Amino acid sequence: MKINHTDLAALLKKELQTCNKEHDLLQIKSKFIGKKGYLTNLFSSLKDIDPDKRKEYGAELNQTKNILNEIINEKVSELKTKNEIISQLDLDTPAKHHHFGAHHPISLVIKRIEKIFSSLGFETHDGPEIETERYNFEYLNIADNHPARDMHDTFYFDSNHLLRTHTSSVQIHAMEKSTAPLRVLAPGRVYRCDSDPTHSPMFHQIEGLCVDKEINFRNLKWVLNDFIHKFFDSKNIKTRFRPSYFPFTEPSAEMDIMFNGKWLEVLGCGMIHPNVLKNVNINPNHFSGFAFGLGIERFAMLAYKIPDLRVFFDNDINFLEQFENLRET
Ligand code: PHE
Repeated sequence: MKINHTDLAALLKKELQTCNKEHDLLQIKSKFIGKKGYLTNLFSSLKDIDPDKRKEYGAELNQTKNILNEIINEKVSELKTKNEIISQLDLDTPAKHHHFGAHHPISLVIKRIEKIFSSLGFETHDGPEIETERYNFEYLNIADNHPARDMHDTFYFDSNHLLRTHTSSVQIHAMEKSTAPLRVLAPGRVYRCDSDPTHSPMFHQIEGLCVDKEINFRNLKWVLNDFIHKFFDSKNIKTRFRPSYFPFTEPSAEMDIMFNGKWLEVLGCGMIHPNVLKNVNINPNHFSGFAFGLGIERFAMLAYKIPDLRVFFDNDINFLEQFENLRET
């Protein structure tokens, strides 16, 4: 194949692209500008050229020679720097230790609970942490003189705005946003003026809400029992429901589970009070529903056998790293 001198530079560059060794570079160099290389062949064909054009062609070949030399020299210095870098590498240096992030146990528990309830058609909803009195208290049928409304129990911004004291406020937002029937799960932070080994001023709750035709207390009991059995992965956990009082549910109950031979309160629940349904324009003669609220820290303490609530918020890396390898199940 006869190669034209104008193609030589491009051809050389292409061959050098994959060349990483000095030895290969020398071979390529001799192929292009060596004694039997392309360029030398072209020079020796000079004598066959028409004498008028010989001078001009010769000058072009010389120019090509310079260009090829330049390309080769560039590659030589590129390889040289590469080799210098490699020779400076200490291949015995231990690799850097990578710290992998871990899910916080609270997040793990939220995910686990969401998974259980999503299989029953509950959808996760979100609500604001800064609430108005209406959503946190009034629409939930919490009377003006209820102690939860007290300045001592609640963080207020002004007389109307406060840090939500429970996720029950999301019940109202959810029912306003989507009409019945609906099934809602609302995890999030809540705030109360409390601080001791078992209470933190900020903690997490999950609210559950189910509104449909003919929802009754048996549905509530079945759903919560099923949840406890799935969460603790055991059908043998005993549960009981004790009568209780919440202004936004009627009747209301607290659910206990048997843990290490003792009854332990784990959540509050009840049938949604008709006043609450009316407040969001749902007709209590056509629809009924149940709601429940649970403290996530309590479930995390039980699931991971953690004795002190405060470790969740200390951000101690040694504590948090233990959850690195836990699967989100
Ligand atoms: N909001 C209640 C609390 O914080 C829990 C609850 C939620 C009770 C829903 C009944 C129904 O204690």
